Amino acid sequence: MIIVGGPASNGIDDKLSEMLNVKLVKAEHKIFPDGESYIRIPESVKGEEVVIVQSTYYPQDKHLMELLLMIEAVKNLGASKIISIIPYLAYARQDRRFKDGEALSLKIVLNLIYESGSDELITVEPHKPDAVISYFKGNVKIVDPTPALAREIKKEVENPFVLAPDRGALERAERLAKELNSPYSHIEKERDRTTGEVRIKEAPHLDLHGKDVVLIDDIISTGGTLAQASQLSYNLGARKVIAAATHVLLVNDAYDKLTRAGIKSIIGTNTIKVENKNVKIADISDLIAVKL
Ligand code: R5P
Repeated sequence: MIIVGGPASNGIDDKLSEMLNVKLVKAEHKIFPDGESYIRIPESVKGEEVVIVQSTYYPQDKHLMELLLMIEAVKNLGASKIISIIPYLAYARQDRRFKDGEALSLKIVLNLIYESGSDELITVEPHKPDAVISYFKGNVKIVDPTPALAREIKKEVENPFVLAPDRGALERAERLAKELNSPYSHIEKERDRTTGEVRIKEAPHLDLHGKDVVLIDDIISTGGTLAQASQLSYNLGARKVIAAATHVLLVNDAYDKLTRAGIKSIIGTNTIKVENKNVKIADISDLIAVKL
């Protein structure tokens, strides 16, 4: 086995190489003056099982293109099998056509990865795991980040109550609650598909007095969902609210929005290169390593 680390591996390639005692080859990369991506694999991988590590966080299109170029180059060099580790899988939220005429982004992205030559895909908690499994033609392994997130969350809370911001996140909340040995519930949200605005549809009958509420989601993008959930939690009596998510994208003023909504701490994982140093990062490399 050889690990090939891409420009957006966010150090997970180094960690896997060390943990598994496997050779690491860093992909050479540059951008041509006209903006196009260039990739070269500088060593032979002929006959080897190759694990490519490349996340697809912002800028998603560039990182996705680099991934496809790495797969193509590795295939051309004669690898016997290609496994793509994509800690954050971009475009996963557009997993169906919400409105007529929309592109089915997840499907085309997964087709490109497969057709470029990737036999297997390992990814960390995509928005809808079943959609990824059904659209990728090769083998798919999903990494559950809950144990890594729980390790960090335990440092921040005393009397936790896990709250999912929508019904879709309930199963995730249940997994986390098990790790924290705490109760859990969910609220109901509604998103305007045109403006992207989030609205809490139904306030649950919950008493959160004295509780440290842990809001759990797969992604924090604009922060709108968790900001609203935080305000609701305080209205229901929460002593303190923290937020945890697998992929902390934190777009534009998301951090300030969450802070203004009373969120005392934000915990994410290293599937994303998070520039904001106030965000606490849980390492998920060991959870990926066991899938190899
Ligand atoms: C959507 O259903 C996801 O699970 C997240 O709740 C959503 O992507 C978060 O986005 P934002 O931070 O922009 O509200």
